[in-house]
Parts: sequence; C-alpha cells; structure tokens
Amino acid sequence: MVDKNSILERVHCKALQDKIMTAEQAAEFIKDGMNVATSGFTPSGYPKAVPLALAEKAKKEPMQINLWTGASVGPELDGALTEANAVARRLPYQTNDSMRKALNAGKVKYTDLHLSHVAQMSRYGFFGGGVDIAIVEACEILEDGSFIPTTSMGNTSSYVQSAKQVIIEVNTTQPVSLKGMHDSYVPLDPPHRKPIPLEASGDIIGTPYVVCDPAKVVAVVPCDITDKVRDLAAIDDDAKAMGKNLVAFFEKEVAEGRLPDNLLPLQSGVGSVANAVINGLVNSNFKNLEVYTEVVQDGMFDLIDAGKLKVCSGTALSPSPAKLKNFYENVEHYKKYIILRPQEVANSPEIARRIGVIAMNTAIEVDIYGNINSTHIIGTKMMNGIGGSGDYARNGYLTVFFTNSVAKGGDISSVVPFCSHVDHTEHDV
Ligand code: COA
Repeated sequence: MVDKNSILERVHCKALQDKIMTAEQAAEFIKDGMNVATSGFTPSGYPKAVPLALAEKAKKEPMQINLWTGASVGPELDGALTEANAVARRLPYQTNDSMRKALNAGKVKYTDLHLSHVAQMSRYGFFGGGVDIAIVEACEILEDGSFIPTTSMGNTSSYVQSAKQVIIEVNTTQPVSLKGMHDSYVPLDPPHRKPIPLEASGDIIGTPYVVCDPAKVVAVVPCDITDKVRDLAAIDDDAKAMGKNLVAFFEKEVAEGRLPDNLLPLQSGVGSVANAVINGLVNSNFKNLEVYTEVVQDGMFDLIDAGKLKVCSGTALSPSPAKLKNFYENVEHYKKYIILRPQEVANSPEIARRIGVIAMNTAIEVDIYGNINSTHIIGTKMMNGIGGSGDYARNGYLTVFFTNSVAKGGDISSVVPFCSHVDHTEHDV
C-alpha cells in the first residue's frame, strides 16, 4: 500500500491533508446498518482500499451495510464484501459471481433499478434513509475540497452532495491528466427541477470536478490498486453478421431519408455482443458519428481510432485491459472526444428523447411478440439487472435489441414463444 506522502501532491486542500489515513483507519467510520454509497460504474473508478479493509473488519466483527453504487463495480467491492457476508442490501446493478450467487440464494436483498432513477431515488429517501457515508475514488483533490473523479462518474456527484460523511480514496494509478474529462451536474428535485440544459451529445453543462464540502470528509486514503477491467469475448462470425445487419439497416434508413447521413447519437449496451456490434460501424462508411451512451467499451475507442467519431458521451470507461493501457498512454488525445457525465444525465430519458438516441442493447431472450428479457435466466435467476437498457429503450428514436439466436452452445433458444420474464414490452422495442 502506498504511504501518505505519495498522495500529498494530489491533495491541494490543506484541511484534508490532515485527514490522510490508512484504509483500515477509514473503515472504522463505517458502522453496521449504514447506507454506504460509492463511486464506480463497471470495474472503473470504484473505491478499492477501504472496501477491502472493511471486508477484513467484517470478518472479525460481523456487520452488514447497504451497498449503493453506480452500477457493477470491481471485485474489491462486490466480491470482497459479499465473501465477508457484509452486504445486507445491494442496488442498483451488479455483474459479480459471488454477489449474483448471494442474491439468488436470498442472502443479499437486491433492488434492480433503471440506472437513471438511482440518484434521484436516493435523494428522495426511497431506499430507507439517505446516504450515511459516501466512499469515492479521485485522482486529485482541489483547494476547496472538490475533487476530480477517475474513470467513471456514475452517481458520485449526487451521493457526495447528499452524504453525511465522505471518504475519498486518492488513487495513484489514475493519472491526474483525467482532469477535464468530466461534466458533473446534479438536477434539483421536484417541485424545483428544471430541464437538464443539454441539447447535443457534446454539450458541457456542469463542472469538471465534483463539488464536495471538506467539512464532510472524514478520511482521505491513499490507494494504488488498479481498475479491474476485463477482456471482452472475441468478435465471432455471429457478432460480425449482427453488425452487418445493423449497418445495412442504417444505410436503408439514410437512403430513405429517415436518418441523417451521420445517423443520430448512438447508445450501445454492456457486454460482448453490444461491443461486437459496434465493430460493424467501425468497418462501415459512416462518419462524423456521435455517441450518447452509458459505457464506453472497446468499440468506441475503435471508432475514435478510425476517425469516425465526433464525440463520445458516457458515464464510465469500460475498456479491456489492453485498451485501458492505450487510453492511459494517450489520455490527452482521447480527452478531446470523451465526456464522462453522471448517470442521471447520461441515462436521462428526457435527453434520450430530445437528442433522438439510437438505443442498442443486448437481450437474454426475445419473444415473437417483441417482448425482451434482459435480466432473468428462465424467468427466475437474476443475471445482472436491467441497468440502463430501459432508460434508453423506452425513450430512444429507434430501439434495437441484439441476441444470438441460441444460448449455451445451442441447447437453449433465445427466441421464444413468450419471454419467461419481461423487462421491455413490445411497446418499447
Ligand atoms: N437462457 C439461458 N442463459 C442464457 C440465455 C438464455 N436465453 N442467454 C444468455 N444466457 C447466458 C449466457 O450463456 C451467459 O452465461 P455464462 O456467463 O454462464 O456463459 C450469460 O447469460 C450472459 O450471456 P452473454 O451471451 O455472455 O451476454 P452478454 O455479455 O452480451 O450480456 C446481458 C447479455 C443481457 C446479460 C447483458 O447485456 C445485460 O446485463 N443486460 C442488461 C443491462 C443492460 O442492457 N445494460 C445496458 C444499458 S447501457
């Protein structure tokens, strides 16, 4: 573990320099029954050192927290805390094997939510009280206590705004050059809410840092653990065929005057299939494309590298390890294209409808009526959660779902008479 001095040059707020401590000391602020809200969306930008220390603490003195994140996170958070039996309730989305088993076994309660709803529902108090403590990852803390997030935005801005206490992990594996990639914005709540003032994928509406009152910060913790991003499945012939079908469909829509030459802002879902389909666009003749999406996977970096992308707005980077390395080596270049926003803005139904997003997500199964199951295997076992698919699918200009026609090596048809669970009805698709 890195020592205190290693982060001093990244902590510009004098009052917070005095709060630098170890992860074990910081974990003492977290008590049984607390609502703990963290940064992180996919295995990107989540806190790592404090959750690991908390898991060790919970093994010695049994305790359970309610864990709220942006979406899925890395193994240091979901995996370690589940294995220490330290999570009572989890929301809003996960992709971790240990967590999936625990919630399907009824050991952890699970609230599966549209990702655009999470921040506002947490502010409304719908999850049983507010945020007791927020644990967030930063690459730098500014003079006034505000901080620069890292590889995701998720719900960080809102959680920090409403938290009673805040712990900031300063991660030295995250370059300070990430500064300038984020656009932090928290809407007011009804009856005072105003339209989110974003009219195009590249608009900047907030601040490049997350506002944070230093009086709420109880600990600043050095961390040198990397994001645990994962490889995506290789792009196979089926995925290539889906990509070609999509490009052919778009070409027809343009030829018949229903889409502009550079299409409309593209949203592409999580997982290997979604990533592979984007690859079809890399090999197409489309250019000047815009992306307004949730996760920035490898396909988006390929579109930038191919010179086909004007702007890429998302809430998290979720590249493979090789692409993350390439991103870190060329942050200044990619920063010209990529904007990371809170998921409340990235997944906003209001904006998806305003800018006319083309929503493209992956299904577990589809039925002949057009209903989609995105979440439950055979109708009962939770896979991951609905994530952001519903935010975009119901509100996009066009809504597309992809799936291989068979699963499990051909043993199960993914096209069924009627879905065993419905996340998106035929009205949305
Ligand atoms: N019956 C049983 N199992 C099925 C199945 C079916 N019809 N279809 C898929 N599966 C299994 C696969 O075999 C695989 O299991 P394994 O991990 O044990 O091999 C698993 O489900 C995931 O399938 P995979 O083909 O690897 O899909 P993926 O990585 O493209 O993910 C979803 C697909 C649907 C699980 C994923 O996209 C998801 O979580 N979607 C919901 C959230 C979302 O859409 N977010 C995007 C908003 S931006």
